[in-house]
Amino acid sequence: MINNEIKKNKVFLMTFGCQMNVRDSEVIAGILGKSGYRITDKEDKADVVILNTCSVRQHAEDKVWSAAGRYSKLKVKPLMGIAGCMAQNYKEKIFERSPGVDFVVGPGDIAKIPEIIKSLTETRIGTVPKERGQSLFLRKIWETDAKNRPDEIYHTGFYEDKDHAYVVISEGCSNFCSYCVVPYVRGGLRHRDHKDVLNEIEDAARKGITRITLLGQNVNAYRDFVGLLTLVNGVKGIKEFSFITSHPKDTSVELFKAMAELEKLKKYLHLPAQSGSDRILKLMNRGYTRKFYLDLADKYRKMVRNAVLTADIIVGFPSETENDFMDTYNLVKEAEFDAAYIFKYSPRPNTEAAKLPDDVEKKEKERRHRLILDLQKEISKNKKR
Ligand code: 5AD
Ligand code: SF4
Repeated sequence: MINNEIKKNKVFLMTFGCQMNVRDSEVIAGILGKSGYRITDKEDKADVVILNTCSVRQHAEDKVWSAAGRYSKLKVKPLMGIAGCMAQNYKEKIFERSPGVDFVVGPGDIAKIPEIIKSLTETRIGTVPKERGQSLFLRKIWETDAKNRPDEIYHTGFYEDKDHAYVVISEGCSNFCSYCVVPYVRGGLRHRDHKDVLNEIEDAARKGITRITLLGQNVNAYRDFVGLLTLVNGVKGIKEFSFITSHPKDTSVELFKAMAELEKLKKYLHLPAQSGSDRILKLMNRGYTRKFYLDLADKYRKMVRNAVLTADIIVGFPSETENDFMDTYNLVKEAEFDAAYIFKYSPRPNTEAAKLPDDVEKKEKERRHRLILDLQKEISKNKKR
């Protein structure tokens, strides 16, 4: 029994949410590897299960609660940790809702995971004989206070893919779009140094990585973003690179010029529009109008040959009328996205929009969602032709 406890070194990582989380899971895997843990893809063989979570919509969180419940019920329950955005969103309250969870680590604290697992498995060994009379809560750990990550966490050189690397250029976001939880769970915008980013890419290239995706919640707000793109374009061994995600208000024709000129830079732009109604865009605090967005998309297509354009759209934002919705519908029609991701609005804790009544009925949200999905499907089909 005790021997088994000591050998608790196989970790299963499950990732929810965006590419930033995919990268964070790699970072966690890299750090754990350096500390003597092994990553397994067999959840039933794992000693430790870590759920790297997303809070962007209610639906994303629901999936995590049910996964946590499932792992809690296993005959031999693994040590279970919640990392990522939900960890920051709920902190120690997670233990109340999901008592099978043993530790909670916010996005800023992932460097501490090996230490936490070690400390929990050790306490387990120490307290096994006395455990029954003890409150479960005594063996829980939560770390959700860090604001900044040490840059070293990106230096393990571990990438899931042999050929491709996600490289973080900025963390957090300070835009405060009224529906969005990111600034609350990931903190304000912080830049990684040009030098650190470039070092990471050069190291990756030496290991055989040929494709790079630069990551940030709003990459265009990165200081001298075009300068960075130019430097990455010059890295020996890199054949192709792209970036995600762009915010229309910070996207400029200088960027399109760079996209047209830099031969390794993919002609791919993910430019979330969110809504086509000026009234709703204002309520969303997006900082641009429908016309600004469509003009920008138009300039992009004119300046960059074979340009690919994708977007995110939210339907059913508080107070969205049929007219507002039709503005969005027509924007999708006009912009002719190569692909669009359509979401039904869901209120998120702490956000400004959560103070407004969530007054578009579920059925109506579903109808609007379906209508734009069908429209986009048609557009994508025609484009392929
Ligand atoms: N409700 C619905 N969709 C949302 N998104 C962000 N927050 C919410 C929310 N509260 C969508 C946006 C964003 C994408 C990642 O998720 O479209 O671009
Ligand atoms: Fe989800 Fe946003 Fe966190 Fe990514 S940053 S995991 S999309 S809440």
